[in-house]
Amino acid sequence: MMKKLSRRDLVKFGVVGAVAGLSKATESWSEVIIMPTPEEVEGPFYPVADQIDKDADMTQVTGRSGQALGQYIIIRGAVKDRFGVPVENATIDIWQANAAGRYDHPRDSNRAPVDPYFQGWAVIHSDTNGLFRFKTVKPGAYPASRSWTRPPHIHFKIFKKGYPELITQMYFPNEPLNASDLLFSNKTQEEQKAMVAQKTDEYDGMDVYTYNIVLRGH
Ligand SMILES: [Fe+2]
Repeated sequence: MMKKLSRRDLVKFGVVGAVAGLSKATESWSEVIIMPTPEEVEGPFYPVADQIDKDADMTQVTGRSGQALGQYIIIRGAVKDRFGVPVENATIDIWQANAAGRYDHPRDSNRAPVDPYFQGWAVIHSDTNGLFRFKTVKPGAYPASRSWTRPPHIHFKIFKKGYPELITQMYFPNEPLNASDLLFSNKTQEEQKAMVAQKTDEYDGMDVYTYNIVLRGH
């Protein structure tokens, strides 16, 4: 398990160069600093009505007896700063369409049905090692306009005191719709790589995806 390092530790270990000596050593900064997770638009479907159940299992809703429709998956990852230091107790606000590509939102005019057993929204926190995980369904693609179908994606907002708020979207690997998506295709290759989760494991019959988040600031 990785010990949490302060910036002073990093300086002590020589990971971060002394600022005074940087004029000729700019390259050492670029090796150390990780690209922050690219930002993306919030979109029109951030939840407008509060709900009691916003826990890390989005495949069921407290007080309702059914299970969400769709392919169950686990997303896990770490929140870090640009030096790779874990960020603990970051608030991770997650919302997404259901397996049929429908948001439970008054502005979503998609004709696909709302799934009453799908939670749709979660607010969780990174642990002392910056780690988080949640269980959900793989979101369906949905029409954003007549000529534009959004690929499966999950919306994220990350809050942590001392860092700028990050709003972004996570994509899935090997999705043919990624390349034609008007938002995703507008990113550089390096940015796209950072925005696509990787399938890293299987657990209890579910695909496990890893998605790491790097905050700006500090
Ligand atoms: Fe969306």
